[in-house]
Amino acid sequence: MTVDKNKLAWITGGGSGIGKALAIGLSGLGWHVIVSGRTESKLKLLSMEHSSIDYLVLDVTDKLANVKVFDSILNQWGSPSLVILNAGDYTPMAAENFDLDLIHKLNSVNYLGVINGLASALPAMKAAHKGQILIMSSVAGYCGLPDAGPYGATKAALINFAESLHIPLKKEGVLLRIVNPGFVSTKLTEQNDFKMPAQISAEKAAEKIINALDNDSFEITFPKRFTYIMKLLRCLPYRWYFYLVTKITGK
Ligand SMILES: NC(=O)c1ccc[n+]([C@@H]2O[C@H](COP(=O)([O-])OP(=O)(O)OC[C@H]3O[C@@H](n4cnc5c(N)ncnc54)[C@H](OP(=O)(O)O)[C@@H]3O)[C@@H](O)[C@H]2O)c1
Repeated sequence: MTVDKNKLAWITGGGSGIGKALAIGLSGLGWHVIVSGRTESKLKLLSMEHSSIDYLVLDVTDKLANVKVFDSILNQWGSPSLVILNAGDYTPMAAENFDLDLIHKLNSVNYLGVINGLASALPAMKAAHKGQILIMSSVAGYCGLPDAGPYGATKAALINFAESLHIPLKKEGVLLRIVNPGFVSTKLTEQNDFKMPAQISAEKAAEKIINALDNDSFEITFPKRFTYIMKLLRCLPYRWYFYLVTKITGK
């Protein structure tokens, strides 16, 4: 099938939430989108409902499977101009319920899963000397928050990793960017038992990301009324930081 190479996107975790909203939003703008995730039924349904969305099943924690999926994209459609490494998982963990297996699981999906996708996409994108890669992190990666350690640490790692690669990859023609959303209503946040400030829909989040595709800023963050407060928090001396976090969260 012939597709416009300038409008070819691969989205991991594309079967639900922000990834699904991104796939639908991009396909509405004339993009051809390949979505990946573990649950074939969700991906298949999405693909059946949108003729410009195809799917390839993938568990991002499987290093070799990432390479195979990306090779399959190259063979069938060509090198994507946009890769969104969005697949992620979240479970809160109170310090008194320290769960080593959970920490390992979130690390392999959220951090190493993204690195696996990045490693599979980079050679072709560098050879093509074009394209952008969006890494889905979170404001939870800005600073350590109560009950969010196993999740926030993976997102902090992604921010750090992307910062370190942004300049060298730009020199090779590939724009590596970080996406740091605040609270978005998805299955992932359903499990939060607190009122989430400035929460937005997955469709609104997708719209913010898609609108930012035309610029080349390193970070895409929204809604700014919330994420800028989080940015400020991380700049405070620790004494003030911990005082405010305790006041705000009650923990
Ligand atoms: N919701 C928020 O407030 C928020 C805020 C900041 C950042 N984020 C980030 O946004 C991204 C998308 O999350 P979401 O909120 O849209 O939640 P979601 O609806 O639960 O989406 C997560 C997606 O990741 C996929 N996934 C999970 N583990 C995977 C694996 N091992 N291999 C491949 N795919 C996997 C899931 O599909 P399968 O289970 O079928 O594999 C699912 O489609 C995540 O990285 C999350 O950390 C979310």
